[in-house]
Amino acid sequence: MNIELTVNGRLRSANVDTSMRLIDLLRDEFRLTSVKEGCGVGECGACTVLLNGEPVCSCLMPAFQAREASILTVEGLEKNGELDDLQKSFLEKDATQCGFCTPGMILTAKALLMKNPTPSRDEIRTALAGNICRCTGYTPIIEAVEDAAAKAANLK
Ligand code: FES
Ligand code: FES
Repeated sequence: MNIELTVNGRLRSANVDTSMRLIDLLRDEFRLTSVKEGCGVGECGACTVLLNGEPVCSCLMPAFQAREASILTVEGLEKNGELDDLQKSFLEKDATQCGFCTPGMILTAKALLMKNPTPSRDEIRTALAGNICRCTGYTPIIEAVEDAAAKAANLK
C-alpha cells in the first residue's frame, strides 16, 4: 500500500507491505541510519523514534501504522547546522561510547523534555528505563539530560 508520512519535517511517501516494520522503512528506504536495531523485540530501545512526539520502538511497529504521522529521528534534530542541546550535552558529558544506544536515548530524552522541561533525576531515570546502554553505566547519560534541561532553562 502507498502511505504518506512526515519524516523530520519533510513529507515522504512509500510503498509498504504489511510485514514491513517502521525501522525497515526508515533505515532501508529513507537511509536514516541513526535508527539502530538491537534486540528487534522491543526490549532495548535502540530503535526508538518519536511518532507524533511520543517515543516508539520502530522494530515493533508496522510501517503502515505510521501513515499520516510525524516521525522524528536524530537526523531531524539539527537546526541550521546547530546540534540540539541534547546532542551537545551528550558530547560534553561523555554520555556516548560505542554510540549504539545514543539515538534512542536522545530521542527518549527529547520527548521527556518536551513534556517536562525540568525533570528530576528520578523522572529522567524513569523515562529512560526502557533504553539499555551496555557501555556508559548510565550516569553520564542522566547528567547529559540534566545539562540539556539546564541549558534550555538558561541556567547555564
Ligand atoms: S531494536 Fe527495537 S527495542 Fe531493541
Ligand atoms: S554507548 Fe554503547 S550501548 Fe550505550
